[in-house]
Order: sequence, then C-alpha cells, then structure tokens
Amino acid sequence: MNITPQELKYFADYIESQLGIVYAPENYYQLETRLKNIADFLSLPDANAVYKKAITKGINGTFKQFLLDTSTNNETSFFRDFKVFQIVEEKILPSLQVSFPNSFNYRIWCCAASFGQEPYSLAMLVHEFLEKNPKHPPIEIIATDIAEHALKRCHEGVYSHLEVQRGLSSVRLLKYFTKNDSDHWVLKPEVKNRVKFQTQNLLEPFAGMGIFHLIFCRYVLIYQDNERRKQIIKRLEKCLRPNGYFILGASESALGVSETLLHVAESNVVFYQRN
Ligand SMILES: C[S@@+](CC[C@H](N)C(=O)[O-])C[C@H]1O[C@@H](n2cnc3c(N)ncnc32)[C@H](O)[C@@H]1O
Repeated sequence: MNITPQELKYFADYIESQLGIVYAPENYYQLETRLKNIADFLSLPDANAVYKKAITKGINGTFKQFLLDTSTNNETSFFRDFKVFQIVEEKILPSLQVSFPNSFNYRIWCCAASFGQEPYSLAMLVHEFLEKNPKHPPIEIIATDIAEHALKRCHEGVYSHLEVQRGLSSVRLLKYFTKNDSDHWVLKPEVKNRVKFQTQNLLEPFAGMGIFHLIFCRYVLIYQDNERRKQIIKRLEKCLRPNGYFILGASESALGVSETLLHVAESNVVFYQRN
C-alpha cells in the first residue's frame, strides 16, 4: 500500500521536532526512500506499515534511532574547505597562548562530527602543532553528533580508499594511517586518541559541555530553519571564551545573529570571534 503525503508529513513533523531538520514537501520522496529502508530494517512490508507501527506503538528504541540516523545527511571529507584548516594551522593554533594568556589547556568543539573526518583533520593539525611546540599547554578536541551510526564510525577511525582520497595528502595518509587486511585505512592512536566523542543534539541544552576556545559548527545549520539556526548560534556563543573563534560552513552565516560575535574575513575565509 502506498504511503500518502499526510502520512509522510507525520514523519517530517516528527523529524523536525527531534532534530530541527526540515523536510519540505518537495523532498518527501527522500523521506519515502528512507522509510522503505526502515521497513527492511524492521522486517515490515512497506513504508505504510512503518507509519501504522508509528501511530499504534509510537516511535521509540531502535526504530527511533534508525529513523533519526537515516534522516541526517552525513556528507563530509578530510580537510573540507582546505583554507579553513590553513587558518586554523597558521593563525588560530599559534595565537592561542597570546589570545588566552590565562588558559592552562585549550579546548576545541567540533559539533557536527559526522564520520570523524573533520575532528580528525583538526587532530592532525593539533598533533603537528604540538610536535613543533612541545611546551605548549594541552589542546583537547571534543567532537559530537546526533547520529549514532556516525559516532560509531568516529570511534572506529577506519576509512575506505575513496574516503582517504578526499582531502588527505599522501604525506598525512602515510604518517597517520596503516592499512588493514580488508584494504581499509586505520587511523593511528597518536591522532585518534586526541579526540573524545559524545552524543549531543544541537537542539538540546549543552549541559556539561563546558567552555571552548574554538568551535567548529559546519554544514549542519543549513538544515535548520532561520529561528532555530539563530538560537543554536546564540547558545554556542555562550560556550565560547571571550576572543574565542567560531567557524561555520562556507554557505552558512552568523551575520546579524549576535552583536558580540564579530565577523572576520582572512584569505577568503570567514570566521567569527566572540567580543
Ligand atoms: C553534512 S554533515 C557535516 C559534517 C562536518 N561538519 C563537515 O562539515 O564535513 C552534518 C552532520 O550534522 C549532524 N546533525 C544533524 N542534525 C543534528 C542535530 N540536531 N544535532 C547534532 N548533530 C546533527 C548529522 O548527523 C551529520 O553528521
């Protein structure tokens, strides 16, 4: 039996309430494909049976997790938008002790980690920076995401040939990875152990996250509506130290959201600094 647009709207509303991700009616076909995958996962005949299960038994347990996981877009790559990482390497890391003279350890939050390529790219830069500056105080990286399947991959730190070919130089590939028996690339502990992963929904309170010197929040706010995007940016700003750096994706902007988040443009890269 076919699933109706009203039934698809039921799932679109549920996903928006849980993740803030908005499915416009013209994208309901994507939702339908995802519900067909969920039907397979739950051993149900079709998307309509998934709807019936949702309205009679509720959306919970592994059903809820699978629905939310498959609703996220996890597109990512190593050193995505390379110039941003150049700013981190050449400007932000070397300036930490000058900008924050009273800090004894420095903290970076990567708040949409996906499969780990972004936080691990940061970890490589931090590793190289600390190799050159062995007396520098520690630099901690916390990486979060809502999707459990993505966090599982982060914990594994194992990447396909295609994934390592996207953004990683051959020097860094050979320095930080070893090849396993199934021809995949395994991240070495010296980089892997620099990142701590945890679950965090950006719509929920950031209790216990603490305060950061740099926050990466890239290519996740594009899926949120304007009001939620502003609210998330304002709440993330509260987790930044004064002078702390805030970096969004190239198509995202914090302009006009907060008077204390200053817009900085350098080498064609836009980032923000908390006043
Ligand atoms: C397109 S990926 C971006 C990955 C990485 N930041 C990058 O730029 O390469 C978006 C990620 O945001 C996560 N995400 C979506 N909604 C979220 C939410 N409400 N809270 C936390 N993470 C969310 C998804 O699971 C996905 O891994």
